[in-house]
Formats: sequence, structure tokens, C-alpha cells
Amino acid sequence: MGSPLHLKAGPVHLRTLGKIPAVTDEPTPSADAVKAEMSDYYDRLASNSAAARSLDSGEDPESIAAADLARRYFQMRKMRAAERLGGFQPAQRLVEVGCATGPYTIRLSTEMGYRMTGVDISPRSIEIARELAVSLGLGDEIAYLQGDFERLECLDDGSHDGLVSFSCIRYVPDPLAALRQARRVVKPGGRVVVDFPNRFCPWFKHLKTRFGVNVHFEDRHFSAREVRDMFTDAGLESVRFTKLLFTPTITPAALLPAFKLLDLIGERTPGLKETAAIIMCSGQVPSA
Ligand SMILES: C[S@@+](CC[C@H](N)C(=O)[O-])C[C@H]1O[C@@H](n2cnc3c(N)ncnc32)[C@H](O)[C@@H]1O
Repeated sequence: MGSPLHLKAGPVHLRTLGKIPAVTDEPTPSADAVKAEMSDYYDRLASNSAAARSLDSGEDPESIAAADLARRYFQMRKMRAAERLGGFQPAQRLVEVGCATGPYTIRLSTEMGYRMTGVDISPRSIEIARELAVSLGLGDEIAYLQGDFERLECLDDGSHDGLVSFSCIRYVPDPLAALRQARRVVKPGGRVVVDFPNRFCPWFKHLKTRFGVNVHFEDRHFSAREVRDMFTDAGLESVRFTKLLFTPTITPAALLPAFKLLDLIGERTPGLKETAAIIMCSGQVPSA
């Protein structure tokens, strides 16, 4: 399941934020080295994030986030899709893995009524997420824990009604191990909902580099069949999918209605739907 191309590992990524790192024939680093680098990388992103800046400057984090219309629209579509696929009900206890500084965790709590735990491998992200939650008066509502998706040592067996994860498992060296952990921490009958970049989306395959968009190191893309097989191998049942088109976060507010229309049509059009950027998959933990 490894990436066909290995993008140069090591501190070079930190220097090339915003640039495309060079493809090399260096040996593939160990899973632990990848995860250490991932953690450092996201520590650094978290320290430079809008969340960190709002904490430093005392600006209202909610009004900063509210200005980011395209990102919020895309986040809400993912959250609603996960809610539908997971059959989740407000007031249930959900864990979000790969929560970064907490944008989804906070909205799942405040706008959708879930009792949330956020987990991320990056300690700095977790630190900022905690501070942000306190500054929003959510310090007692959301638990943030540092942890690795492949181990989830921070969570007890069957401690949550469901698990969601957005744009994270693609960077985890052993996604099957991560799904097995997801199954462990969710109660019998609960659901695991995880999204994956679609291998057949032209954006990832051809367009991203042409538009000069940064290629993330250690990123992998999946087919729906691979995703289904992994869910099944992890012991998850009643597997179901949805596909979502991607909304670039830089989309100007004036163009957002056009993207909404495209989503409405594209996600219902056979052919186009198959090339959608996001495969979101849900599987149920077997009843005891
Ligand atoms: C692209 S960001 C996505 C953040 C957020 N979920 C979103 O969609 O905006 C990927 C996140 O996954 C986290 N991550 C990467 N590998 C991880 C692992 N093995 N365990 C837990 N979190 C991990 C990173 O630290 C980062 O916060």
C-alpha cells in the first residue's frame, strides 16, 4: 500500500513548505521516522495557524474562522456526510482522529451537539486546540489527547459511540492498523467514518502539480475497492461509502454558489461522481 514515489524525507520538508519537494531515490524511511516527521511538520503548521495567531493576539477565533467561507462550507459538508454515513445522533460521544488544532472538533461540538474527543499525533496542535477550547468556553466540553492513529493508546476499548477522521489516514504509514484501532475504541454497533483521497480523481493525479499546489510528503491515494477491503480486513461490517467533490479553500466567496451547484450536480452524476476527490467510508463495529 506504499506510495509509488517516495518524496524526500527529513527536515527538507520544513524548508520547502509551499514548494514541491524533489522526488529522490533515497530509501523509504521507517514508519516511526515518517510519524516523527509528520508530528514535527504539523507542530510547525499549528504554531503558524490562524488558531495560534488568534490566541496570541486575543482576536476572536470565531470571527477569524467565520471569514473563511469556502473552508467552512467544505468542513460542514464533510461533517454532515460523516453524520449521515455514521448514523450518529447529537449528544453521542465521538472521537475525531487527526483533529489538528480542532476546527472540526469544535464545530461538531458547538454546531452539531456531539460530545467530542480530539486526538492528534502533533503535540503542539493538541496544545493549541486545548487553549482554543478554553478560550471559547469549551474547556470542559472537549477532551484533546495526543496520540497516534495506529495505536490510540490514549483511548480505552469501546470508549466512544463513533469515530470520525478527516484527511488524516492518508498520512498514516499503516492505515489497516489505524482502522483496527478505530474498531477497538468504538462500542459494538457504533460506526467508524474515515475519508480517503480518491486515486481516480484527476486533481491528485494530474492537476495539482500543474497548478503549483504543494504535494504533501508521504501522501497516499486509494480506490474505493482498496478502502472497502481495508475496512473489511479491520473487522468492520456493513461498509458504505459516499463520494464528495473538493472545494478549494481559496475559493472566493463570490464563486462559492457555483461550487455549491457543481457539488449538487457532480455528486449525483455517474462518471463525474467516480472521479470525485474524497471517498468517505463507514463501517460498523460488530455487535458483541
Ligand atoms: C491534513 S491535516 C488534517 C486536519 C483536519 N482533520 C482537517 O481535515 O483539516 C492531517 C492531520 O493528521 C495528523 N496526523 C498525521 N498522522 C497522524 C497519526 N499517525 N496519528 C494521529 N494524527 C495524525 C496531523 O498531525 C494533522 O493534524
